[in-house]
Amino acid sequence: MANNLLAGKRGIIFGALNSQSIAWHVAEKAHEQGAKFVLTNAPIAMRMGEINELAEKTGSKVIPADATSVEDLEKLVTESMEALGGKLDFILHSIGMSVNVRKGNHYTDENYDYTLKGLDVSALSFHKVMQTAMKLDAMNEWGSIVALTYIAAQRVFPDYNDMADNKAYLESVARSFGYHYGVAKKVRVNTISQSPTMTTAGSGVKGFSEFISFSDKMSPLGNADANACADYCISLFSDLTRFVTMQNLFHDGGFSNTGVTTEVIEQFGK
Ligand code: NAI
Repeated sequence: MANNLLAGKRGIIFGALNSQSIAWHVAEKAHEQGAKFVLTNAPIAMRMGEINELAEKTGSKVIPADATSVEDLEKLVTESMEALGGKLDFILHSIGMSVNVRKGNHYTDENYDYTLKGLDVSALSFHKVMQTAMKLDAMNEWGSIVALTYIAAQRVFPDYNDMADNKAYLESVARSFGYHYGVAKKVRVNTISQSPTMTTAGSGVKGFSEFISFSDKMSPLGNADANACADYCISLFSDLTRFVTMQNLFHDGGFSNTGVTTEVIEQFGK
């Protein structure tokens, strides 16, 4: 459904690894809605090559950047403005990675070097992206910046491991930076707390497919998929949500406000 909601807008989309990635869906929809944008990912992810297919489909330039490197980010933001012909209206931060999760380390047995690496990639990078954009005066007024998060920032999901702490930090950065960017430039900053979604990052979590089914049964509307998440991102990049900022917005089919569902309770009567 193309309504030209993003006509004339320019942006940067982080995190499209493959066609399952939430960022991939956002890029497709942003293109449909008339936006121009640069696609970016860590240089190592580029080697997989799939992003070039998306770039071709959406007429976008690809600029590699490790989101933990301020130098890379400065280059990315500067070159994006040159390539797109002006300042930016939106940025999507769709990045997450925990080395402890990858290595199978239990939450009570973290390797702290891994913890710091995961925090840098998953959370501090959001601050770095915004600080870089602010210093380079790269955002237009009323621009919109969105990062993706998960409800494990508020409640315990044991296998989410140290990603829970990373997401809590990420959401806090959205509030704090959202304040400063709002005052300085009327730029809004929000996080979307998305249902579990079958992607490369998601499937790294232990017992993920069972968990997806549980979450689906615990959500009155069922799990929100990547496509629906992309729709929500587009609405936040559009001018229809100009006074929404510093929020953590649940996009989860009602999961976050549900104590239990009849369907789940019935499992215990069997
Ligand atoms: P994905 O694996 O497709 O995307 C994660 C992206 O992070 C990849 O493109 C990866 O290359 C990128 N990345 C990793 N290290 C990087 C670095 N140093 N610099 C730049 N990029 C880097 O998985 P997905 O699910 O699309 O993840 C996107 C976001 O959504 C993440 O923040 C994730 O935590 C969040 N999220 C995912 C959920 C899920 O169940 N899949 C649920 C809620 C939130």
